Amino acid sequence: MKLSSGAPARAALALVLWTSSPAAATPAATWPTADSITNGLARVESVREIKSVQRTFAQLAPHGRWGDMAALFADDGVFRWGAGKPGANILDNSDATFLTGPAAIEAWLRTDAGNMDGLKPGSLHALINDQPVISLSADGRSAKGRWHSLKFLGDGAGKTRIEGGIMQNEYVLTASAEHGNRWRIKLLRYYPLFAGDYKNGWENVGGNSLPIVPFHYTADGAGETILSPYQPHNGSKVVSRHTALSIDELKYRVTKLNDEDEVRNLQHICGHYVDRRMWPDVIDLFASDGVVSVDGRGSAPGAAGVQSALDRMGPEGLTRGVLNDHPIYQTLVEISPDGLEATSRGLEIGMIGDSIAKTAEWRFCVFRHKYIKDAASGIWKIKELAYTRIMVANYTSGWAFGGALPPKAAPLAPPPFLDVLGHISDVARKPTDWQPPWREDSNSTETLLADMQRRLSRSAAFDETENVSSAYGYYADDIRCTDFATLHADKGFKMSPGVGWYLSPQRIAQACIARYGDRPAAARASIPFHWRVQPIILVSHDGRSATVRVRNLQMGTSRGGGSAGFNGGMYHDQVVLEEKAGVVRRKLWCLTIDEFYWQSAGWAGGWAGVNSTALGRRQGGIGGYVADVAVADPTMRLREVGFNGGPPPTVRWPDIQRMWWSFRNPVTGRVPESYWPGCVPCRTARPDWQLTANGYQEPATGPTIVTARAQGTNVTVTVVGGPDEPVTGLWGYAGER
Ligand SMILES: *[C@@H]1O[C@H](CO)[C@@H](O)[C@H](O)[C@H]1NC(C)=O
Ligand SMILES: *[C@@H]1O[C@H](CO)[C@@H](O)[C@H](O)[C@H]1NC(C)=O
Ligand SMILES: *[C@@H]1O[C@H](CO)[C@@H](O)[C@H](O)[C@H]1NC(C)=O
Ligand SMILES: *[C@@H]1O[C@H](CO)[C@@H](O)[C@H](O)[C@H]1NC(C)=O
Ligand SMILES: *[C@@H]1O[C@H](CO)[C@@H](O)[C@H](O)[C@H]1NC(C)=O
Ligand SMILES: *[C@@H]1O[C@H](CO)[C@@H](O)[C@H](O)[C@H]1NC(C)=O
Repeated sequence: MKLSSGAPARAALALVLWTSSPAAATPAATWPTADSITNGLARVESVREIKSVQRTFAQLAPHGRWGDMAALFADDGVFRWGAGKPGANILDNSDATFLTGPAAIEAWLRTDAGNMDGLKPGSLHALINDQPVISLSADGRSAKGRWHSLKFLGDGAGKTRIEGGIMQNEYVLTASAEHGNRWRIKLLRYYPLFAGDYKNGWENVGGNSLPIVPFHYTADGAGETILSPYQPHNGSKVVSRHTALSIDELKYRVTKLNDEDEVRNLQHICGHYVDRRMWPDVIDLFASDGVVSVDGRGSAPGAAGVQSALDRMGPEGLTRGVLNDHPIYQTLVEISPDGLEATSRGLEIGMIGDSIAKTAEWRFCVFRHKYIKDAASGIWKIKELAYTRIMVANYTSGWAFGGALPPKAAPLAPPPFLDVLGHISDVARKPTDWQPPWREDSNSTETLLADMQRRLSRSAAFDETENVSSAYGYYADDIRCTDFATLHADKGFKMSPGVGWYLSPQRIAQACIARYGDRPAAARASIPFHWRVQPIILVSHDGRSATVRVRNLQMGTSRGGGSAGFNGGMYHDQVVLEEKAGVVRRKLWCLTIDEFYWQSAGWAGGWAGVNSTALGRRQGGIGGYVADVAVADPTMRLREVGFNGGPPPTVRWPDIQRMWWSFRNPVTGRVPESYWPGCVPCRTARPDWQLTANGYQEPATGPTIVTARAQGTNVTVTVVGGPDEPVTGLWGYAGER
């Protein structure tokens, strides 16, 4: 194989991804082969299946499916669920339930739930497991994962319970005649951190200060890529661990991964539009016969039907005091065998209300949405948004007595679960009626494989980005300044809220230490959790850079209670693949937080109990440690006005702060009113910090839509792209969707 054939850019990419150490291999060894792509594919599929196992575990819980949950464990799987009793040591799980094997685990789950099983009339058993950091072993047969865990429980007869903490789990790839190769839970180890009932809210477990829950990863390791450590070069050959799949099968499965990313983004974007009641943007996402259905009752198909379903939620746009947040958790995506349809499933928890009218409500919904791929454009659209409400409760009275939904005679049938487990290293299922959805620019096998490798690296980038994003969240919870600084690239920059952006890991760490002090790993009286959920990850064409938007859902806990409430903000970040001395790591390039869009007045008051003057705000300035770009910098005026530390007038909940978007509508390409693509300080203050000024591609901010119209013998071709995006031709833009 020669490097001289094929596009140089791809060859360079292949080099970056396939060279894991300085000593590795001559360029000749770096061309991907069907063998090496098969191995990389197995790793990406494994990371996804591990997430799917844990998310399935959580999705089964609201329906009392204890046996199915236990069946996700290996035969010798271990379950350690700390109780957090007063005086108990959280870290050694000294008061933990300690069980081995699915049968014992099933029995415990059933007993622990008791009447709060989601089956008894008025009961609730909502479990959230999200924000994963997944580490796959070098041999690809075991893995570790860190997750946030939160349970909202009630028996419908007056009793409620809330339990939150961190899971440090282990997974193992098992093979059995019955199930084939599949990932299972080897160890579920739960560290309880906060608990309480609905009436009083939660506080630190056992009234203690909270220790730092040990991490299975290091700050530098969190950027390890999924593909690169897996390069068992031997001379000029990549040694295979899986039998190479056929090229058709590889294309099929890589395309499936790419499609999954598109669908996940589509759903998560839709959620953000709904929260801001951006109805035209929501409607744009639907197929022409799309519907919205709640508890089985659907709208009329088409835009008018969707519009009327949305209108029932309220008028377009948010007015002062309106909160319409619906965080989306643990989304699973299944692509149909023909690659043209998709289903997603997960849990959405509506936190809605009106703080002027003083109303507030919880709305727990299981969603199971459907999507179709437009065959001509390759763009995914929503066919059906389908919600099943499992609990609706007024914030004041809560769900202790079953909430506001009419009582049900029989337990709700769960919306069908997805078939997303047990697909690792399947025997090749050769698709017969399936065409590769991308246009091949060459029929040379080498170029084809290089392109397949590129496409695979884009899906790997999706998971690597979620990994780094989640790792950041956990370090932010514990205010581990040096660790979260280390997650950044050497030329990376991070906003210190209310102050400005600091360039380089050293300065990021210093800014944090100047503000919060250099904290040892000691127990804390309170923790402000940063749930970074509902990610939208837009990966560049070459897979080396990505733009990521995640929520910041803060929920605090403290000793002595009384203060646990929620805050809502939004992160706008970018990540890159950084190569240093031959080592490749996924690193944060920039990190910006817009906060707060809303805040609650402790647990008791909730988000409707807030008077704007009551909220304290941090003011700018970190003891003279001057930012490289201040939030108050005149060049940042337009972008930062109203935010914490930004130019006045400051906008405080329940006033509605403008929300910024770094991408366009993923279906129509519509440019949002408040559009700020790329890294936040780059547009006006520091163009030299842009990805494109540093050897990276800027991920496309939306589809490039090309339409042709014939009038007589004249043909008019229209191309719609982002305002700042060069449209240089079809390939590379339209080809992405
Ligand atoms: C690497 O190649 C050498 C010589 O061809 C062979 O003896 C050895 O077993 C190979 N190692 C692996 C891991 O395949
Ligand atoms: C809860 O319901 C009661 C009775 O309908 C109502 O007065 C109260 O305002 C509601 N509370 C909230 C926060 O919506
Ligand atoms: C594909 O291969 C054929 C036969 O070798 C050749 O004539 C043709 O130009 C190739 N097509 C492309 C797009 O490279
Ligand atoms: C996440 O980080 C860990 C290291 O801490 C690394 O081993 C793993 O490969 C990363 N996983 C993904 C999916 O990027
Ligand atoms: C908000 O203002 C109202 C009316 O002035 C007052 O009754 C209430 O206690 C205030 N709430 C908070 C959380 O300060
Ligand atoms: C085609 O374009 C020519 C030149 O711009 C114009 O004169 C003519 O009217 C157009 N014809 C049609 C059918 O639009």
